[in-house]
Amino acid sequence: MTAQLIDGNALARQVRAEVADRVQALKARGVEPRLTVILVGEDPASQVYTRNKVADSEQTGLQATLERYPAELPEADLLARIRQLNDDAGVHGILVQLPLPRHMDAHRVIETIAPAKDVDGFHVASAGALMVGQPGFRPCTPYGCMRMLESIGVDLKGKHAVVIGRSNIVGKPMAMMLLGANATVTICHSGTRDLKAQTLQADVVVAAVGKRNMLTADMVKPGAVVIDVGMNRDDAGKLCGDVDFDGVREVAGWITPVPGGVGPMTRAMLLVNTIEAAEKAPPRGA
Ligand code: GUN
Repeated sequence: MTAQLIDGNALARQVRAEVADRVQALKARGVEPRLTVILVGEDPASQVYTRNKVADSEQTGLQATLERYPAELPEADLLARIRQLNDDAGVHGILVQLPLPRHMDAHRVIETIAPAKDVDGFHVASAGALMVGQPGFRPCTPYGCMRMLESIGVDLKGKHAVVIGRSNIVGKPMAMMLLGANATVTICHSGTRDLKAQTLQADVVVAAVGKRNMLTADMVKPGAVVIDVGMNRDDAGKLCGDVDFDGVREVAGWITPVPGGVGPMTRAMLLVNTIEAAEKAPPRGA
């Protein structure tokens, strides 16, 4: 059996088109939805990511601004700028690109963003809302994974989902979202004793570790859905995920490729969160 591909590029195009329609509807009401992206320092990957976030936004008609600051920026100055943006009714979403320079406390920085503008979904208020099943911004990567699962029509109720990875950005919120969809969820991590015994039970596997080929064909139940969140480089420098794609695709029922899988969906869901922030914002001057 060869798995069917879940095409992240095609689905992301669809999501962006939906966002573009919502942007037009807001503009017709006189609201110009705006995202501000903050980049501190010169991290090369972060420069690419933030540039892409701004370009994606503008492609859907969202206004986006990239604010760049030197790596030596005092944390107090960054917090002051975030507070200004919190108070600016013309800004609907605020994203501070991670990682931050070592002299900054990323947690304190994220907690300074107003929850109503936390389009990354990293604020404790957003995480708490997800935990208790209340509305709030969902972290873009697991949110995109859920959209991919929806797109193939899989009913998660009663299914066994195994999430490999326990980060605050992917693993933990992914597990909460799957639980919210009534899956039975197992979270595995570096301390898990027999990972293969767990993954072989799984109807859905989400690999979010950051280590290539960590999920191989012998670890996957025939017909399972495999979502690959990994972003690694192989020996030739080519982008690859956490999953041994060529092997696993012969066993799985569905699989996401890297590139062209979760990555484009993560980018698209940021736009969804931003348009939602703008739709929910009180009218200016109110
Ligand atoms: N660094 C890597 N991924 C992300 C992300 O999704 N959001 C932010 N703010 N920083 C990141």
